[in-house]
Amino acid sequence: MTPNAATTLLRLKAEYLMPCVYHFYKDPPVIVRGEGAYLFDTTGKGYLDGYSGVSAMNAGHGNPAILDAIIAQLRQLQHTTTIYLTEPMFHLAKALADIAPGDLKRTFFCASGSEANETALLLATLHTERRRFIALSDALHGRTKWAMSATGLDLWRTDPFLLDDFSRAPRPFCLDCPLDLPFPQCGYACIDAIERILREVGPQHIAALIAEPIQGNGGIIVPPDGYWQRVRNLCNQHGILLIFDEVQTAMNRTGAWFASEHWDVVPDIVTISKALGNGLPIAATITTDIIAAAYTRPGAATFGANPVSCAAALAVLEFHARERLGDNARARGDQLLAGLTALSERSPCFARPRGKGLMIGVDLVTPESQPDAAGCDSLLERLKDNGILAGKTGSTRNTLTFMPPLIITSEEIDTLLDALSISL
Ligand SMILES: Cc1ncc(COP(=O)(O)O)c(C=O)c1O
Repeated sequence: MTPNAATTLLRLKAEYLMPCVYHFYKDPPVIVRGEGAYLFDTTGKGYLDGYSGVSAMNAGHGNPAILDAIIAQLRQLQHTTTIYLTEPMFHLAKALADIAPGDLKRTFFCASGSEANETALLLATLHTERRRFIALSDALHGRTKWAMSATGLDLWRTDPFLLDDFSRAPRPFCLDCPLDLPFPQCGYACIDAIERILREVGPQHIAALIAEPIQGNGGIIVPPDGYWQRVRNLCNQHGILLIFDEVQTAMNRTGAWFASEHWDVVPDIVTISKALGNGLPIAATITTDIIAAAYTRPGAATFGANPVSCAAALAVLEFHARERLGDNARARGDQLLAGLTALSERSPCFARPRGKGLMIGVDLVTPESQPDAAGCDSLLERLKDNGILAGKTGSTRNTLTFMPPLIITSEEIDTLLDALSISL
């Protein structure tokens, strides 16, 4: 029997990649092409992409307007580093200042979300001259040492010698409260827990609180209204900076440029990446004039602000605005969430559908209401066989996750829901 495309690649993987590199599916397709909301494998089979390469392809695969901008820039100038003046980076910095909340205006560009968070933590220490931080349980902030130390999800805390600069506060997940208290009777006990950390560590030692406004890899955790305003006030009281890691949530994923807009809370520093380049590597740390003023010693990232990624990001911003992707994310997100809620009422193994915009999760649980990671894996496999790619998140890896491209249509959401119903 001749090996299929996946078997050949899996052999190469076993021999040449580090074992940490893992993939979804027992029987994985080999994806060779993308167009709009669809991906295609070597056999020509199409899959509705329900995960967007982890919320990166928000403007869709092979987007012609973005491709044209990338190709034109590739032909003209590919790379110089920031020691030379190139045009796209300055235009992009201005365009980001135009959409960033409040007085967030100054950008440092780099190539990945981890790096952007490193920059945010560095800025916070430089500005406050303090060295400690608060981060939330089950957060994901990246793979570099500092960002991995900020990460709460055990799965992603690989380094046995992580930094101990972080105090961990319980995340605000009212549907499965880490403090086992009901909302709103709890009176925001998870914020009392932050106050306890302040008393124990001393606020004068804490530079910043870093958090995803909606946790992604932690399982699509949307905090209750009032949570971020209270955290913002607490930070203000103690001169502690609020860093929002919007690597996954920014760029209309939740129906707004930045998820922080849902609660009208402006962080001191925000990080973005993923969907900013719609598949090209670019990340940005954005802050105020005052905070940026502390970062004066030379800082550079070789591929930060490279002309091609910046040209892509400029075309991405234009496409999002022109096609009103935020509006579509809200409308299609409501449709998907309503469909998942109806399914969960019929299927007891399908619990706690939740999310904002097109960032949506639902837990797979056993008849005893315990997390069912194996059930989630087999549902993912069946969904894939039925032409839908979805994601998997959560500390117990049982949250079926949907983050499709924001260009997805109402008919495609129906297709997804039908396939899900059959797969269940
Ligand atoms: C919220 C969040 N922060 C940071 C990162 C790390 O980004 P990168 O993989 O680009 O370093 C991720 C990656 O998934 C993420 O979801």
